[in-house]
Amino acid sequence: MKNEIRAYNNILELVGNTPLVKLNRIAENLTGNFYAKVEAFNPGHSSKDRIAIHIIEQAEKAGILTEGSTVIETTSGNTGFSIAMASIIKGYDCILAVSSKSSPDKIDMLRSMGAKVYVCPAHVSADDPRSYYEVAKRLHKETKGSIYINQYFNKLNMEAHYKSTGPEIWEQTGGQITHLVACSGTGGTISGTARFLKEQNPNIKVIGVDAFGSVLKKYHETGELDTNEIYPYRIEGLGKNLIPGATDFSTIDEFIKVTDAESAHTAREISRTEGIFVGYTSGAVMQAIKQLNELNTFDKNSNVVCIFPDHGSRYMSKIYSDQWMEDQGFLNTNTVEETQEIQYVK
Ligand SMILES: Cc1ncc(COP(=O)(O)O)c(C=O)c1O
Repeated sequence: MKNEIRAYNNILELVGNTPLVKLNRIAENLTGNFYAKVEAFNPGHSSKDRIAIHIIEQAEKAGILTEGSTVIETTSGNTGFSIAMASIIKGYDCILAVSSKSSPDKIDMLRSMGAKVYVCPAHVSADDPRSYYEVAKRLHKETKGSIYINQYFNKLNMEAHYKSTGPEIWEQTGGQITHLVACSGTGGTISGTARFLKEQNPNIKVIGVDAFGSVLKKYHETGELDTNEIYPYRIEGLGKNLIPGATDFSTIDEFIKVTDAESAHTAREISRTEGIFVGYTSGAVMQAIKQLNELNTFDKNSNVVCIFPDHGSRYMSKIYSDQWMEDQGFLNTNTVEETQEIQYVK
């Protein structure tokens, strides 16, 4: 008798069910037990695969998307990549409106995945007809049978994590999770996951990670959108200059802010100590854990789960480039020795 062929029908069947990995060396001096949900194991190398698939499949169920339809979004980041990947398999056209600030590498990556990319001027206001928001909206209106993913305001974003990330973490920890620490950008990951976990055990503490220069922490604490909080920062995917409708702030117990420099160094430290090659926001979440540890948030019985949203390969010209780190003023005499010297053989 022949053995059966064990193959996935297509790449999208690999979305979700990412591993939970114990953190060892980086957590050596911290109180508690620490585990990372490594979202780079998704086929598009980030947690955004989950929302791309969920939002597209809900639109299919509603009869909005049919073969040859168009999926539209405004992002040069992980979500764009995930939508492009899903569109290939499902036979949709994918249009991504991105800012002219996006690196040529990112634009080429999206084009390599079959997306039609509109590069829109970065210096115009959000309501200018040339802004990437307005271009996406216009294309959505003009393209019959299209959907606009609109991840910052789409409730299905949170639902994707409520239905997948939350149950996976509950099952992987055997219900023993005590704390969830996760970055908040659109807020879909943290609030969807948190809502599911708190339904299982309302005592689980949920801590959101925000950037200095973002409005989320203050909004959570005061209900006020304080524009004085807004200034430019480097970490992509974390924090925001508006209040995302995709976040359920009531599921989050507290926010903690992290700096660009410490998050970058901590991402590099995770790669070097755990052998997990992570993106910038994974550094941010681990940096937040270090700060929470200093504040005595955990005890020896704490089972802390954090989410590492994406893969380090997307940041080669940023946090993994010594030159970039130096240009940002992030390298100082205490930290230069952390990367290996290149040995040139003559
Ligand atoms: C790299 C990265 N980390 C974290 C996040 C935050 O996840 P969420 O948008 O679900 O809050 C994002 C989202 O844009 C991201 O791209």
